[in-house]
Amino acid sequence: MSDGVAPLAVGVLVSGRGSNLQALLDACAQPRFPARIVVVISDREQAPALERARAAGVEALWINPKDFADRESFDAALVRELQARGVGLVCNAGFMRILSPVYVRAFAGRALNIHPSLLPAFPGLHAQRQALDHGAKIAGVTVHFVDEGLDNGPIVLQAAVPVEPGDTEATLSARILAEEHRLYPAAVRLFAEGRLRIVGRRVLITEAP
Ligand code: GRF
Repeated sequence: MSDGVAPLAVGVLVSGRGSNLQALLDACAQPRFPARIVVVISDREQAPALERARAAGVEALWINPKDFADRESFDAALVRELQARGVGLVCNAGFMRILSPVYVRAFAGRALNIHPSLLPAFPGLHAQRQALDHGAKIAGVTVHFVDEGLDNGPIVLQAAVPVEPGDTEATLSARILAEEHRLYPAAVRLFAEGRLRIVGRRVLITEAP
C-alpha cells in the first residue's frame, strides 16, 4: 500500500479449478493492491485451487465436511478458521456448498460471491447452460454480497457479454470467465478501499478519494 495502511486480509473459499482464485492472487500480488489473501479454504481435498494457493505461498486449508455432524458445525469451523486469521473479507470463488446463517451472519457485509450470470437471472447451478437454454441474447457475470438466499445478495458489479449464435456451454462459459477474472479483483479493490456501502438491496460505490 502506498499510504502505509495495512492491506485488507482476505480469505477465499473454493471447491474446484480456482481460476477466479488465481485472478485474485495475481491482483493481490500487484504492489499497491489494497488486499492480501491470507488463507484459501476448500471443502474438497483434491481441489486444484488449493495447489494454486500453495504455489503462491498462501496457506491452503482443507476442511472435510465429513468431520462434522451438520452444515452448521462445518460452517462454525469455517468461521473460526477465518476469524483466527483476522480475515476482513471472504470471497466465495466456486465454493460449491450452500452456506448456513452461521456463516452468513458472521460475515454479513463482508462476504462476496461471483456468479456467472446477470442476476437475478439464472441463479444456481449451470447458469451459462440456463442462459443458453432460455435463448438469452446477453449473458454475463455478477459479483454480489452474500446473504441468506442463493445467489441473492446486493449486487456490487456486473458485466454483460453477448451470446453468439453458435455458442456452446463451453464457449459461452469461456467468454463469461474472462469477465469474471476482471470483475472479481475490481470488486475486492472497491471493498478494500472502503468504497462500498450497502443501502437496502443497493450497493453504492463512492468515488475514489
Ligand atoms: C465460476 O464460473 C464462478 O462464477 C462460479 O463457479 C465457477 C468457478 O470457477 N461460481 P473457478 O473455480 O474460479 O475457475
